[in-house]
Amino acid sequence: MAIEAVSEAAPAKLNLCLHVTGRRVDGYHLLDSLVVFADIADRVFASPARGLSLVVAGPEGAGLRADDDNLVLRAARCMGITDAALVLDKQLPIASGVGGGSADAAATLRALVRLTGRPLPDLPEVLRLGADVPVCLASRPARMTGIGDHLAPLPPLPSMGCLLVNPRLPVPTPQVFAALDRHGNGPLPDLPETALASAATFADWLAANSRNDLVRPARTVAPVLADVQAALDSTPGCLFSRMSGSGGTHFGLFATPESAAAAATHIREAHPYWWTAAGRILD
Ligand code: C5P
Repeated sequence: MAIEAVSEAAPAKLNLCLHVTGRRVDGYHLLDSLVVFADIADRVFASPARGLSLVVAGPEGAGLRADDDNLVLRAARCMGITDAALVLDKQLPIASGVGGGSADAAATLRALVRLTGRPLPDLPEVLRLGADVPVCLASRPARMTGIGDHLAPLPPLPSMGCLLVNPRLPVPTPQVFAALDRHGNGPLPDLPETALASAATFADWLAANSRNDLVRPARTVAPVLADVQAALDSTPGCLFSRMSGSGGTHFGLFATPESAAAAATHIREAHPYWWTAAGRILD
């Protein structure tokens, strides 16, 4: 029986840490990052059709054009798809460091594999869509190295709630990398089993052993990001907070999704124009 329609979630990608360890001759940076995903997501719908089309919907869709550069259409074309009707329900802010575009591209690839039975493109083609697309394809906790092409699964992490906060200012990734003055920083130490005993021990380990080397350059591009960090740091129940990717979204880790939701109320009261979303870290 022919498949009528499929949909795939495109969960927000969070870089719990992001060490920039070098730079390749082509300008791309070598990274060492622990990546997890939240149950806060865009969604891609795909159904059979004549010709290839895309409609962008959802509360964060207004700033995103459904043109040939859209990563959803680029992902479809990269699979050789010429016939499919695609809809992107955009819930995550654009250019915000949670991999929205990469997650959308990965969700499109997964949806079109299910809809058409065609195989996934090879890794180099997937990487051409975006350095975060490979990690978003699995949407599982991973240590990501290289430019995003080397992935190792993480051991089971403690259960954690999370709160995402974005000051509603798009922060373009190339600008942040361009403002980075130090390209060879130390790698991440190995994650010991003792750190995984609870959300609190994991948070303490992250704080003591890891960094996001893009924080400084991101704040030169968007100084308001320091206020986002300060707001999360002073939120009751927040075990650990940091900027994700090249920003500007920051995440807070909490013992439970309920405490993250309570913290969201706290942040919204103080900053009604910021974007916030509470949820949990996916296994
Ligand atoms: O791969 P993606 O399109 O997400 O990357 C956007 C930009 O971010 C690149 O053009 C590059 O300037 C920078 N980048 C980088 N090193 C990475 C990933 C991205 O320099 N590992």
